[in-house]
Amino acid sequence: MTIPVKPGPDRDEVQAHRGASAVAPENTIAAFRAAAEQGARWVELDVALLADGTLVVIHDDSVDRTTSGKGNLGTLTRADIAQLDAGAWFDPGFAGERLSTLVETIVALGELGLSANVEIKQHKHHKSLDQLVQAVHKAIGQRRPEMRIMISSFDPEALKAMHAMEPALEMAMLWSELPTDWEARLAAIPATTIHLNYKALSVGFLEKARACGVKVRAWTSNDPVELMSFWGAGLAGVITDNPKIYLG
Ligand code: G3P
Ligand code: MG
Repeated sequence: MTIPVKPGPDRDEVQAHRGASAVAPENTIAAFRAAAEQGARWVELDVALLADGTLVVIHDDSVDRTTSGKGNLGTLTRADIAQLDAGAWFDPGFAGERLSTLVETIVALGELGLSANVEIKQHKHHKSLDQLVQAVHKAIGQRRPEMRIMISSFDPEALKAMHAMEPALEMAMLWSELPTDWEARLAAIPATTIHLNYKALSVGFLEKARACGVKVRAWTSNDPVELMSFWGAGLAGVITDNPKIYLG
């Protein structure tokens, strides 16, 4: 009898990193629309607070790299970011694209039929973890009933706080490298999902995680060859800038 080898991810196991950020400006509605056009069902996006408490979808702690403006998020308000172009830096064809709040993004994703992995960023300018997670909780509370949401973070405290507020949500601990005490760290949240840099994956770890009932997804892989040997060992998903390469 031959054991079937899983050749790649199922459709629900592919998440578009910051949207389809290989072909559209990251973390914008254009990138989420591009992900939907490529056939993705999930997008990953990053959230952080502005000075006025608005939760905005952006990766960095400043607008310098991905918009026409300058400044740390802790010095800017919603009115300030409304003035910024978040598309032209990527390609002139995306000029006019704006940064969006998480609430606006949740509405847009609902219209696109997409589900969301909301990555809570912890930045130096954030004054209160409670303010941050309350804002995320309030925004995701506005999703359509059919929209699936999961939360991820490099900050275990953010996951603990979110889990306490909404225990049914999937919580994914983000790591660049696998800590030796990963089981204890997950249990302390508690979480049963790890999002790990694909370079830190091994078959042995995946088999152990599977035996413990822990789900593992890999980030950020833009070449299916990188993960070829891991699907059969139980890899549960991939976060990629270019979902079409994994969706076939
Ligand atoms: O979710 C995986 C990935 O988004 C984590 O790294 O820096 O791209 O947010 P980063
Ligand atoms: Mg992220």
